[in-house]
Amino acid sequence: MAIVEQENPLLEGLALRRTPDPCAMVIFGASGDLAHRKIFPALYSLLYRRLLPEHFGVIGVARTEGDDDQFREDMKEAVKKYGRDEFRDDVWEKLAEGMRWVTADFADEGGEDRIIEALNELDETRGTRGNRVYYLAVPPSAFEMIVEAMGKRRSTEGWTRLIVEKPFGYDLHSARELNALLTRYFEEREIFRIDHYLGKETVQNVLALRFANGIFEPIWNRQFIDHVQITVAETIGIEGRAAYYEKAGAIRDIFQNHLLQLLALTAMEPPIDFTADSVRNEKVKVLKAMHTPGPKSVVRGQYGRGFIEGVEVSGYREEPGVAPDSMTETFVAAKLYVDSWRWADTPFYVRMGKRLARRETTIAIQFKAAPHPPFEETQEEGLRPNVLLVHVQPDEGVSLAIGAKMPGQGMRIRTVHMDFLYGGAFRTGMPEAYERLILDCLVGDQTLFTRADEIEEQWLLVDTIVAAWQRDRPAFPNYAAGTWGPPSSDALIRRDGREWRRT
Ligand SMILES: NC(=O)c1ccc[n+]([C@@H]2O[C@H](COP(=O)([O-])OP(=O)(O)OC[C@H]3O[C@@H](n4cnc5c(N)ncnc54)[C@H](OP(=O)(O)O)[C@@H]3O)[C@@H](O)[C@H]2O)c1
Repeated sequence: MAIVEQENPLLEGLALRRTPDPCAMVIFGASGDLAHRKIFPALYSLLYRRLLPEHFGVIGVARTEGDDDQFREDMKEAVKKYGRDEFRDDVWEKLAEGMRWVTADFADEGGEDRIIEALNELDETRGTRGNRVYYLAVPPSAFEMIVEAMGKRRSTEGWTRLIVEKPFGYDLHSARELNALLTRYFEEREIFRIDHYLGKETVQNVLALRFANGIFEPIWNRQFIDHVQITVAETIGIEGRAAYYEKAGAIRDIFQNHLLQLLALTAMEPPIDFTADSVRNEKVKVLKAMHTPGPKSVVRGQYGRGFIEGVEVSGYREEPGVAPDSMTETFVAAKLYVDSWRWADTPFYVRMGKRLARRETTIAIQFKAAPHPPFEETQEEGLRPNVLLVHVQPDEGVSLAIGAKMPGQGMRIRTVHMDFLYGGAFRTGMPEAYERLILDCLVGDQTLFTRADEIEEQWLLVDTIVAAWQRDRPAFPNYAAGTWGPPSSDALIRRDGREWRRT
């Protein structure tokens, strides 16, 4: 397939890349939520931009009984409902031609053979040449059976890659076990562990902002930065996922993966190049340099009843499937340190939670005040510190808070914002994270996927925090839905004479 360079505006950005080899993708868990909402809309959008290989096929696998036609109909509706592009029959038909369904339970020995049969058929009819992507979109309890079954029957032709969804383990021990299982059958360069935050444009823009500009890196350190705040705030509750969330809580759902990845990208040293290992080596160094926070530096919360946009919502313990005395945290705030020359003594305040006042994911770099402002205090009343604010979502963009003179006689200074908004600056819509990640896997680029050692460092930190939690039992619920978390979160940062960002 030829890439049409820049003539088609839809190809912008994604066009400047290698075309994937012919291949077949097996989606384990193809009757599930992720396949409907993310994977198939992403495949459709990639094909819409002519970014999938000409010779491509998809095998859907799940226990649910079905056939090729039902699978096609089901996914056609999903693409219409969740896709970001207009639905075109010609594009869809091209994808649908290569779709096959296999009903299999991984306890059933016959399942793998039928999958291999379908793969061989795709090799013959679609020219997929023995190249395989196995996508584990199933609950972690089914990972082992699938990895064993497919790992033992690796294709002797072409390449094989494995995509593993989160959660990757429950703690350090289980993550190590899972890594050991995967590497028994697959090499590290064949394993693609998804943290979908890394597929977001604005998260990758942290790297562009830092390393493509000469002006930020010289001041990106403890001498000029007072502190960093990272917020991952959701207004939604657990949306019927009690079985998962009761075991995970905010620390495993957000802190262990997305939050620590945002922190690592913010704090890492410049990589020597943009290859997967260079970038991941630098992130691992940050994770290794993270100081274990003491019990006073981490607070947790659980939401009670409250109001989200004027509508009353239930407390966490009243959600269906949640124990009435559940001690699962829906909020975590922490003060973290990276023990390195660049960051020594510079706090990273992080907070994340459900049912908070507003949906936002932001990284705020707060700079130190000017050493000697020649103005009088009254002239500076409206002035706040310089903040470089990266809006990961929503309102994707970057904003720099600076002091400016207010129009009029005399000298009065106020904070204003220099804004860059993605929507305004670029003509095209933003690709979904899954489009980027699936395409990267098809071309074998692991830069935006987490490596085994990264995941293990992340779990090590979580395990030490969770171990300290065994010693006390906070009075949950301790914050009302629609607020910014428990009072202890404000106390955590106020002790240092600072405040959480509100705007
Ligand atoms: N949904 C999301 O937005 C999202 C986001 C991030 C990560 N993830 C992760 O992605 C994975 C899938 O999530 P999901 O939301 O799609 O879950 P889901 O809706 O519960 O779907 C699970 C899928 O796995 C299949 N399955 C389960 N056990 C199986 C077995 N023993 N043999 C064969 N198939 C089996 C189910 O099909 P049958 O019941 O028909 O067998 C279904 O297709 C999970 O690891 C989840 O943590 C999901």
